[in-house]
Amino acid sequence: MLIRRSTICCARALRLSTHHHPIPMAVPSPLSTHLKPFSSFCHLFPCDHDFKLFPHFLSSSCFASPLSSLSSPKPNRRSKSPVAAALLEIGGVKIAKDDVVRESDPTNNVPDNIFSKIGLQLHRRDNHPIGILKNAIYDYFDSNYASKFVKFDDLCPIVSVQQNFDEVLVPADHVSRSYNDTYYVNADTVLRCHTSAHQAELLREGHSHFLVTGDVYRRDSIDSTHYPVFHQMEGVRVFSPDEWKDSGTDATSYVAMDLKKCLEGLARHLFGAVEMRWVDTYFPFTNPSFELEIYFQENWMEVLGCGVTEQDILTRNGRKGSVAWAFGLGLERLAMVLFDIPDIRLFWSTDQRFTSQFSEGKLGVKFKPFSKFPPCYKDISFWISDSFTENNLCEVVRGVAGDLVEEVKLIDNFTNKKGMTSQCYRIAYRSTERSLTDEEINQLQWNVRETVQSKLYVTLR
Ligand code: PHE
Repeated sequence: MLIRRSTICCARALRLSTHHHPIPMAVPSPLSTHLKPFSSFCHLFPCDHDFKLFPHFLSSSCFASPLSSLSSPKPNRRSKSPVAAALLEIGGVKIAKDDVVRESDPTNNVPDNIFSKIGLQLHRRDNHPIGILKNAIYDYFDSNYASKFVKFDDLCPIVSVQQNFDEVLVPADHVSRSYNDTYYVNADTVLRCHTSAHQAELLREGHSHFLVTGDVYRRDSIDSTHYPVFHQMEGVRVFSPDEWKDSGTDATSYVAMDLKKCLEGLARHLFGAVEMRWVDTYFPFTNPSFELEIYFQENWMEVLGCGVTEQDILTRNGRKGSVAWAFGLGLERLAMVLFDIPDIRLFWSTDQRFTSQFSEGKLGVKFKPFSKFPPCYKDISFWISDSFTENNLCEVVRGVAGDLVEEVKLIDNFTNKKGMTSQCYRIAYRSTERSLTDEEINQLQWNVRETVQSKLYVTLR
């Protein structure tokens, strides 16, 4: 697969495409560093109902963790601080920073700035565009399916490789499994890169109609529609044989038709009378698979991926003889369009001038920019090494400049006679909240250069 960049917003679709190319497995990135024993996961001990999410954390030693006696308050939807707490609790799972960020562990590639997003759960804030959109989608499902869909929005984003990939049939050589694309906590554990990571366990628990909303994490390049943390909603509906047997069509066609009808209705509920079209595609977990595009501001925009669930997933999870559909949609992409939000970083802003513009239940209120601060461009050129990737560069830039970086763009690439490749990237610095001083930007650029040189094994030019 290529996680296609134009896709489901930031829900860069997790699909195999014709561009699929195998990757070496579990290659620690040059950014990752030291090793810590797996037992340090004791801090992630699950409490009661979430046991099933972390079967491999269920050793009794988990309960002996010194942190197990600390209790952190349930996160309050409205007053969450953007500053990373030392100990988080999500869906009953306690998470300490050094459970997730371990610089010297070569099997870990989660940076501080990503850890700081875990637990913020924008989708659980009723006055935030992401939460408002989630609730509007809930309304659609509640009114069309008599509240039959069970909703999950607090499942822990730290999942096993098995949940994230194996259980949804992502092939062993699929590029999405690489350290370049996914955040690994250790070789067996990742920050989920899609909400499909929860499909199998919820099927096993016996659910037949469910919606899973959550933050998902992907290493990626930087621009105004891509951010390494974004939000998805997954929907799954399982049908029993008596639901399609009198339909006069085969089960797969029946379910595919039902899926399309459901999602067309959802698009109309959110966007009004829009033009839409279906495009055939490929996902490892559905067959057939489709994408829905809507015509918006003179462009076809992909808003979700979906399809008829692979039989193997149903059979392996106690649903032999059933048929199901599943979809996954990217909330940022939809919200940017519905609320006219021009830059994906704004979703994370705590600036009153942003947050005060949205309120519960008000879908589609148009965002008024508080003012446009000028960007400042700085170029950086270097001879790359074999292990260099653009995602690693972006990770370093984001690590130094945080949300002050708006875009990192390759502007020059050439290989000399000796076979050495030089690349030049243009970094756009721009705050969504204030003007940046020259001095500040020069300092950032200096730090970026230093860190790129020391961490990425490139030779600056
Ligand atoms: N998980 C897919 C993605 O992240 C979306 C999807 C979900 C597609 C369910 C089909 C079915 O891109």
